[in-house]
Amino acid sequence: MSQKTPRSFFKPLSIGAPEPYRELPVKLERMIHFVPPHLDKVRAKVPDMAPTVDVILANLEDAIPADAKDAARAGAIEMANMYDWQGKGTGFWSRVNCLNSPWFQDDVSELVLKAGHQLDVIMLPKVEGPWDIHFADQYVAQLEAKAGLTRPILFHAILETAEGVARVEEIALASPRMQGISLGPADLAASRKMKTTRVGGGHPFYRVIEDPKEDGSARLSAQQDPWHYTIARLVDACRMAGINAFYGPFGDIGDLEACEQQFRNAFLLGCAGTWSLHPSQIAVAKRVFSPDPEEVKFARKILAAMPDGSGVAMIDGKMQDDATWKQAKVISDLADLVASKDPDLAAAYAG
Ligand code: GLV
Ligand code: MG
Repeated sequence: MSQKTPRSFFKPLSIGAPEPYRELPVKLERMIHFVPPHLDKVRAKVPDMAPTVDVILANLEDAIPADAKDAARAGAIEMANMYDWQGKGTGFWSRVNCLNSPWFQDDVSELVLKAGHQLDVIMLPKVEGPWDIHFADQYVAQLEAKAGLTRPILFHAILETAEGVARVEEIALASPRMQGISLGPADLAASRKMKTTRVGGGHPFYRVIEDPKEDGSARLSAQQDPWHYTIARLVDACRMAGINAFYGPFGDIGDLEACEQQFRNAFLLGCAGTWSLHPSQIAVAKRVFSPDPEEVKFARKILAAMPDGSGVAMIDGKMQDDATWKQAKVISDLADLVASKDPDLAAAYAG
């Protein structure tokens, strides 16, 4: 028997640690905004930026130079205490360095001991199997007990190695601390030996082409999405485990149109949110990961026509039944969550 018993799965892993959640807290997490915490100028903007996003993440891993790792960790702890994250409802997360790095232990221990009361989620990069989650799970439980925390800190894994993709279901199920998983297209491309230098998005060479034309005229050709398989697999693994899937970074900051398309594909396939690497991507993520008001109106027509969720109805010429009722409920529930935070969208959904 290699699995825990159902009862022990929900026991704290350390005496004095908080009990794991049985249900994840329901939170709006349309964008996880990445901040480099070692930069004083950027950190100073955090209290003004916090109310404009769903989640702010203090990044300690890649993109933070090795000689700035200590400063970034100290900056993250300062950020935790710069704003009333728990009281005001913006998520506060940190991406720590990976488990085999010289920084992981100090990143996690300092964050939990000095900022654990404000920290919602630790993002774990380069997770390759459930053992990575189990190790971090036990370690964090010991720190939670030491810090006297009463609310468990959650984990978010990045799917960014071929090994991780091969075990994504096991990773998603590894602990009740698991909150979600993001795609890490840059590291994943390297791990898979994909031939691209881009961070997410399409590639001009990855396309389909029409059959040759008899008259020899130009054949239609269009770019395809090289991330489609991974996103679809990620969504299935996450939703099977009752956690959320997220797109990840879109590196071409200047191409907001392509960024929007990539985010939208992920949203349609089931993702709950994405990363924003630059302030200009925040509005894009907000637009994409909030349901369209017209879709919400239609979904609510379906719910109203079938109040007990069963039967059959025709609405605007389209057949509705128990299954479409469930689809409508996904959109309507998300709209309620968005409306609870965003007065403009609340008005658009009510109209
Ligand atoms: C993110 O961490 C990535 O590697 O894409
Ligand atoms: Mg990465």
